[in-house]
Amino acid sequence: MDKITLFFATSNVVKVEEAERILKENDIFILHLPMKLPELQSENLEEIAVFSAQKGWEDQEKPLFVEDAGLFINELKGFPGPYSSYVFKTLSNEGILKLMSQLEDRTAYFQSVIAFCNGKKIVTFKGEVNGKISREIRGKYGFGFDPIFIPEEGDGRTFGEMNISEKTAISHRTRALRKFAKWVKSPDFSKFI
Ligand code: IMP
Repeated sequence: MDKITLFFATSNVVKVEEAERILKENDIFILHLPMKLPELQSENLEEIAVFSAQKGWEDQEKPLFVEDAGLFINELKGFPGPYSSYVFKTLSNEGILKLMSQLEDRTAYFQSVIAFCNGKKIVTFKGEVNGKISREIRGKYGFGFDPIFIPEEGDGRTFGEMNISEKTAISHRTRALRKFAKWVKSPDFSKFI
């Protein structure tokens, strides 16, 4: 099959690196559009991703995809969820750990939503990974909440203690990207484009 190149609009270079690894497995290559897209205020990641993809299209007039992710802590009723970016900037990992210091149930999950827009239509793909919040900050890899998230399928290390290939073997983003890649390689993609 032919090589496919897609635009990825994001200001996060780590996301680009993670996405490149996964999509390359399917002969899909990325052109990074470094841009900070406006985010809709919503409780639903899918709505936020769809809005950003639409805005990206209006700005660039190129078929492109965006990715929006969040950390959902069960005992905090899903907080910070769609507010993850703001909470990371304000409370950061230390603040989350402080907020949870008395909590026994530390289960949480990451969700990732990819939205691809061709100017006429938008399609979305979702991926999740279950895990729990650590008691301390651990690790130097990755970004955001990686140093406090211990994936269920790992060996007890946080994402921050895993190198990029270990994280991308099981991450929420990988799961969304694999669904996206499968669709891009299917006849549905040519019909969509
Ligand atoms: P956004 O998708 O860039 O809006 O991410 C929202 C927030 O969740 C940001 O503060 C990120 O740092 C954090 N986040 C998103 N994906 C990940 C991840 O894979 N690991 C750790 N933190 C993440």
